Amino acid sequence: MLVRSSRIVGGRPLRVSAVQSAFRRFNSSKSSSTPPPPPPKGARGKLLLTIGALAIGTTIVSSIYTKGEPKSAIEPEPVKATPAFPEGKVNVIFVLGGPGSGKGTQSALLVKDHGFVHLSAGDLLRAEQAREGSKYGELIAQYIRDGLIVPQEVTVALLEQAIKEEYSKGATNFLIDGFPRKMDQAHTFEDTIAKSKFTLFFECPEAVMLDRLLERGKTSGRADDNVESIKKRFRTFIDTSMPVVDYFDKQGRVVKVNCNQPVDEVYDQVKEALKSKGI
Ligand code: ADP
Ligand code: C5P
Ligand code: MG
Repeated sequence: MLVRSSRIVGGRPLRVSAVQSAFRRFNSSKSSSTPPPPPPKGARGKLLLTIGALAIGTTIVSSIYTKGEPKSAIEPEPVKATPAFPEGKVNVIFVLGGPGSGKGTQSALLVKDHGFVHLSAGDLLRAEQAREGSKYGELIAQYIRDGLIVPQEVTVALLEQAIKEEYSKGATNFLIDGFPRKMDQAHTFEDTIAKSKFTLFFECPEAVMLDRLLERGKTSGRADDNVESIKKRFRTFIDTSMPVVDYFDKQGRVVKVNCNQPVDEVYDQVKEALKSKGI
């Protein structure tokens, strides 16, 4: 059994600046005359170098994996970065499922009982959006409202920062909730941060998720718990996120759980799923 202190993480400043490329893309797609963010000031140490390498590696890797684009015979092979956490240093479990399938609810139970560190990509993005002075607030808000996947540079940088911070305090067991939601996120994370042990996937009928999200929307204050955004999120889930689950599933790295049961019964399945993976 994995035992660590229980912490839910979010809300710290995003110190990295490789995400500026994503921000520039966002600004150039708008008609506004907002100038691009300034170049990074001074040396910001190893993290910045890592993220810089990540941005270059990501561009190469994502171009290789771009759906439907044939690979040229003269195209160089992707540069394989060494993960920041090689096999055995940390245990990472991805938690995936449609919006409202219960990822956060079940992760919180695992934090309480098993002491995982729970990192929700959505929570980290919302915290960065709300952070005073964030250069990415507007970009994140727009993507979330439209139910789209925020450019991976932002999300991977936030996760890497949070994981490193928790690791420095002794944490080694992580539930990464709502991530990866797109193939580029999956490749970048596993190539540059750590390979996941497996993915816990919550299967859920859309009608059930819709009811839960509308109910949650009465009190959540979230900009995307409304019918219009929910429809877009369901579309993105099917078109963009399910291919990630299928990709891991083909490698035998997914454990499926039926989410359409009371919380306790879903949790019993979750515990069985972890047991089946030796956790
Ligand atoms: P996700 O993180 O996957 O979007 P949440 O854990 O936030 O989903 O759950 C969405 C909503 O559904 C929340 O209001 C939560 O209380 C509720 N919920 C979660 N699991 C169940 C369940 N098994 N049965 C009924 N309601 C649930
Ligand atoms: O997981 P959650 O429902 O909190 O995510 C909310 C939104 O955050 C998503 O709809 C998406 O816009 C963004 N997100 C993302 N990439 C992730 C996780 C969340 O772009 N990996
Ligand atoms: Mg959630």
